[in-house]
Amino acid sequence: MKKAILIPVEKAESARSDLLQKELLDGTRKIKLTGSKGEKFLEIPIKTDIEEYTVIEQDAPEYYGKWQSLNERLRDIIPLDELKYVPSGWQIIGDIIIVSIPPEIDKRKTVIANALLEMYPRCKSVIQDFGIEGQFREPIRQNIVGDKTETIHKEHQCLFKMDVTKIMYSKGNLSERKRMSKIDSGEVVVDMFAGIGYFSIPMAVHAKPKQIFSIELNPVSFSYLCENINLNHVENIIKPINGDCAEVTPQGVADRVIMGYVGVTHHYLKQGIGAIKKSGGVLHYHETTPESLLFDRPVSRIKDAARAIGREVEIMGCRRIKKYSPGVWHVVVDAKIQ
Ligand SMILES: C[S@@+](CC[C@H](N)C(=O)[O-])C[C@H]1O[C@@H](n2cnc3c(N)ncnc32)[C@H](O)[C@@H]1O
Repeated sequence: MKKAILIPVEKAESARSDLLQKELLDGTRKIKLTGSKGEKFLEIPIKTDIEEYTVIEQDAPEYYGKWQSLNERLRDIIPLDELKYVPSGWQIIGDIIIVSIPPEIDKRKTVIANALLEMYPRCKSVIQDFGIEGQFREPIRQNIVGDKTETIHKEHQCLFKMDVTKIMYSKGNLSERKRMSKIDSGEVVVDMFAGIGYFSIPMAVHAKPKQIFSIELNPVSFSYLCENINLNHVENIIKPINGDCAEVTPQGVADRVIMGYVGVTHHYLKQGIGAIKKSGGVLHYHETTPESLLFDRPVSRIKDAARAIGREVEIMGCRRIKKYSPGVWHVVVDAKIQ
């Protein structure tokens, strides 16, 4: 049976916020208007009995549809003036939900997390995101509900194991990951900022190149890179290297070099271009660039670095991968190096 309090309309809002404080509201059922012309009442669904109010068994409870937006689910649970802060987007990595919650409603993070878990019953935990920082691009994250932090994310027939409180996973790079998986087989590739294998794994799984040197400095990311090589059965293609690509990038071996980093990628251009075979090859140079410097700055940086080591450059293409921050884009320039 489904309980609800029966309350005159004029007293409903104060009753609802009282039930909210006590976390007694049942957000799966709608608040219903009843009563006759003379007297209007609201039936406010509750989870368990409560003495202070008239409690009824609802004859015809009205449930929300299976696929209710987060905002709709919270409509009867948090104060109406706070609904505008409810996040409209979140990320699901494996069976873990990652969500940013505005400070205005930080105190509601548990009910928000529970509502998200109701929406995604196969998910095990909800983690609050506070951004990414440092050379290793590590996320700042905290569990709200559920202890699980390690998961396996499936994308494009590839498996990525990671601890989402220690490792970033940018859904904005999906199309670039797919693009890199369409390279020619038989190539030798150097992935200078490999992480957990964001590019190396899809390339190995889908394109089966001759060899990929995957370089990663962060020991935590490197251990997941090694696990993901086994998980995707590409041990015969990927050679993981734990080190600083400024020191360990193999020189003169590659048909293709990926410099998938942000902020200071240009500091490593000498090693990136130097990794390309004397007979030539392709460089994918990533950087974060203010709108006003697109694409002149990344292009001139590649040309200057190549000239400095006596190599020729032909720019093959420039693309925007995603908006990185206000007025700044994450971009990639494809350059043929001779
Ligand atoms: C942003 S992540 C990888 C992004 C990935 N290429 C993509 O675009 O999806 C950059 C990775 O480079 C690693 N890294 C940073 N500096 C490095 C260095 N000098 N040598 C090797 N790896 C480095 C970081 O630890 C991090 O895992």
